[in-house]
Amino acid sequence: MNSNMRRASPLLLAAALCSLFPAPDARADGCSDCHKKIEFKVTNKKLFDYYENWEGSAHEIAGASCSRCHGGDPAATTKEAAHQGVFDQSNPRSATHYKKIPATCGQCHAEIQAHFIGSKHYQQLRDDGSGPNCVTCHGSMSSKKDNRPILADACSRCHNAKTGIRPEIDQKAREVIARLKKAEGYRMWTNFYFESIKQPKRAEGVNALFKEIAKDWHEFDFARLDHKSAELLDRLQVIFNQLKTERAARESRR
Ligand code: HEC
Ligand code: HEC
Ligand code: HEC
Ligand code: HEC
Ligand code: HEC
Repeated sequence: MNSNMRRASPLLLAAALCSLFPAPDARADGCSDCHKKIEFKVTNKKLFDYYENWEGSAHEIAGASCSRCHGGDPAATTKEAAHQGVFDQSNPRSATHYKKIPATCGQCHAEIQAHFIGSKHYQQLRDDGSGPNCVTCHGSMSSKKDNRPILADACSRCHNAKTGIRPEIDQKAREVIARLKKAEGYRMWTNFYFESIKQPKRAEGVNALFKEIAKDWHEFDFARLDHKSAELLDRLQVIFNQLKTERAARESRR
């Protein structure tokens, strides 16, 4: 322990610990403090809607605020100072310009970005803007932990009979998404059960397969997705039945 640490008062230590684990709503953030002002609901409703979409999103919960995607200075309190480096999305310099979005999101979702960059979608996005980018499917401000209902409708926006862009893809995607939704129910239960009997390692295999599938999604290779999502569901169903038997045995021993 160095001398500074030894001299530190318990109060300072507590403060240091608090800054290591800040409560999300206690964090000073000039961007959201100003953007959440209720008067914007009347004076600039569109602006306020963006704030409201972020509120409660996976990003707010994880403590990823406005400046993490838009840039700017979150410590500033005036608009002019805070907005240094923040540009409207139509400006090619903006971190939220449609071509820059994969890189902006990729700061934190690097593996997914790497898979996405190898996809036909990315080629189409880069070449003529006809392919989707991250926010076309996930929303920009409202990314939720479980946004499968949104995802299921995302594909048909381009893959439909009217555009003629591979309309069969919509149905295929709905099947895989529905299968994964079912698997997720089992996976939540399985993780919860293994935690409760203090054997979390037993869920590692299926959790790893789940993560792999999330990456595969971003290459949009349906042969692989079909196969792996079916494997995930099968494995989870086997575990589920096994656990039911184990639990019954445990209870009869009591
Ligand atoms: C003191 C209030 C205030 C602060 C602080 C503030 N903003 Fe804004 N922001 C506004 C207002 C008002 C608008 C509406 C457009 C305008 O008046 O320029 C806006 C517009 C925006 C826009 C829309 C694009 C544009 O340039 O018009 C983005 C994106 C944005 N702000 C992000 C941020 C980020 C990121 C931060 C923190 C680094 C931040 N804001 C800090 C008040 C603020
Ligand atoms: C996870 C990244 C992310 C976070 C966090 C985020 N935004 Fe955004 N925001 C985007 C992207 C990407 C766009 C552009 C695409 C769109 O409109 O959907 C956007 C668009 C906007 C716009 C529309 C105006 C424009 O042209 O840029 C406003 C206003 C805005 N954001 C404000 C905010 C505010 C205020 C916060 C914090 C309360 C915030 N954003 C947090 C990614 C983010
Ligand atoms: C500053 C880092 C950061 C940036 C930039 C960022 N994210 Fe996130 N994102 C996170 C964290 C942290 C989580 C929460 C992870 C968790 O709960 O498992 C998250 C969660 C998500 C989720 C929910 C997934 C889940 O775990 O169920 C989606 C979807 C998402 N982000 C998409 C995006 C998109 C699209 C962008 C760009 C517009 C973006 N993110 C930019 C850090 C970031
Ligand atoms: C064409 C639509 C589409 C595009 C474009 C897209 N995604 Fe996804 N994303 C999905 C689907 C589908 C899933 C899987 C949802 C599920 O588990 O059922 C997913 C899952 C995710 C997850 C959750 C992974 C996890 O571990 O739970 C994150 C984070 C994410 N995407 C981020 C991104 C980022 C960042 C980009 C851009 C680089 C992007 N996505 C581009 C459709 C898309
Ligand atoms: C913004 C429009 C848009 C959205 C949204 C979109 N796509 Fe696409 N997608 C395209 C375009 C454009 C192509 C290239 C068509 C072609 O020439 O093959 C494509 C191609 C594909 C391909 C063929 C890839 C290849 O390597 O040949 C698959 C698979 C695919 N999309 C799946 C999806 C899924 C799944 C979703 C929803 C989660 C989705 N797309 C959402 C525009 C979109």
